[in-house]
Amino acid sequence: MASKTLVGAIDQGTSSSRFLIFCSKTGELITYHQTEIQQLLPKEGWVEEDPKEILQSVHVCIEKAVENLQALNLSVSDIKCVGITNQRETTIVWDKLTGQPLYNAIVWLDTRTSSTVDKLIAKTPQKDKDHLRAYCGLPITTYFSAVKLRWLMENEEPVRKAIQENRCLFGTVDSWLLWNLTGGVSGGVHATDVTNASRTMLMNIHTLRWDEKLYGFFDIPMSVLPEIRSSSEVYGQMKMGPLQNVPISGILGDQQSAMVGQMCFKPGQAKNTYGTGCFLLMNTGTEAVESKQGLLTTVGYQLGKNKPVVYALEGAVAIAGACVRWLRDNLGVIKTSEEVEVLAAKVDSTHGCYFVPAFSGLFCPYWQMDARGIICGLTQFTTKEHIARAALEAVCFQTREILEAMGKDSGIPLQSLQVDGGMTANQLLMQLQTDLLGISVGKYHNTGIRPSMPETTALGAAMAAGAAERVGVWSLDSKDLSNITTDTFNPCIREKERDARFIRWKLAVQRSMHWET
Ligand code: G3P
Repeated sequence: MASKTLVGAIDQGTSSSRFLIFCSKTGELITYHQTEIQQLLPKEGWVEEDPKEILQSVHVCIEKAVENLQALNLSVSDIKCVGITNQRETTIVWDKLTGQPLYNAIVWLDTRTSSTVDKLIAKTPQKDKDHLRAYCGLPITTYFSAVKLRWLMENEEPVRKAIQENRCLFGTVDSWLLWNLTGGVSGGVHATDVTNASRTMLMNIHTLRWDEKLYGFFDIPMSVLPEIRSSSEVYGQMKMGPLQNVPISGILGDQQSAMVGQMCFKPGQAKNTYGTGCFLLMNTGTEAVESKQGLLTTVGYQLGKNKPVVYALEGAVAIAGACVRWLRDNLGVIKTSEEVEVLAAKVDSTHGCYFVPAFSGLFCPYWQMDARGIICGLTQFTTKEHIARAALEAVCFQTREILEAMGKDSGIPLQSLQVDGGMTANQLLMQLQTDLLGISVGKYHNTGIRPSMPETTALGAAMAAGAAERVGVWSLDSKDLSNITTDTFNPCIREKERDARFIRWKLAVQRSMHWET
């Protein structure tokens, strides 16, 4: 049996769970297994997932990926550690005595908390959604965990009761997985990392601690909160399955993880990941830059207990891949997500059709939670092909809005953009993106397995896990990531056309706003 030093990564995203196994020397992706996660939409605006299904899917992915590994004649004992990366903000509460969830996971996209948000903003002296920005870097909106937890406390009696009886634990998906994988009711570790904690609105991003000004504002008891740790250290050992006794030694929210995976370690370096949503993060170094343009200030990473904390400015777009999933599941115009490229390529333009997919309101830079999706510019000539193409263009226009805001906030206009994530397999999308931005777009992928993976999210968590003290199987300054390559796309339309289309997009965005009021 051949031998390599291997690192596993659990990537628990909004749409799917995966377990990936990397070679620590080269970053080569050896094998992986993926399963889709069911999204529950019980009411308009509500988006839930079953925490037990999330956990079960992770167990299945680990088992199947390990089977694949053995089929390659590699040994499971070569896996030295595991990292976790996850959809952020999604909120889970569970009973620490039974291990049972007290409610479904409320997914980051869920907008049920809009009236909770209104009440919270109303109690600030200036009636200002940015009242807490100086502490947590975030506006008060439906997106972040504290607001979801507040809603659960106000509306779910089992949650209230479990809190009174000191049985309730809260966590984002990383904490739920860590607690269960390290033993659950028999001593599971209740912790989170600084990147996930920075998305709750409860952690002070300067002190890296739960802050009374924040948890007091939301009236959330400290007793439910996990311990905050760095993104790279041993949190505990796997307690069951084929990886029993393997340390879990890296945790990063998925967007921060992609930043690490793309090695954006210098201030000014940025990446854009196209998943369910689309998230552009720029490293701002050890300084937390407060946004004046509707972006988020967030923790980028802290790779070790005594290592410096690095911050990022983030542009978060709620709907990217989710729009393609909507064309597939709600309209049935495509059977698989990949088909959107074929459909959109059948026409050479949208013929004036614009699609603003504000299904969960508009995130950065607008924070208009009462915006709703619109398709406009329709004529009798418009076909499903034009709509599919408009959906792809929407992702690109939203990225341009973020990039412009980031240029203004940071004073550094980006000369090129590094991209990753499932949607970047779509060549047409990549060409539209470079055309509509007017700068080159470099697509990262891992050539370790075929088809190559346009994915660095899991790689970041693997790197953090492998680099942890007492593990030490991955050097973060390694120049040897020979399996990571880049394809470059360059713009082929004129500036005049680019700008004219962007002006129309902005008009369409204006029309999507204030729909719910
Ligand atoms: O903030 C939400 C984000 O972490 C979700 O990422 O990849 O599941 O769209 P993704």
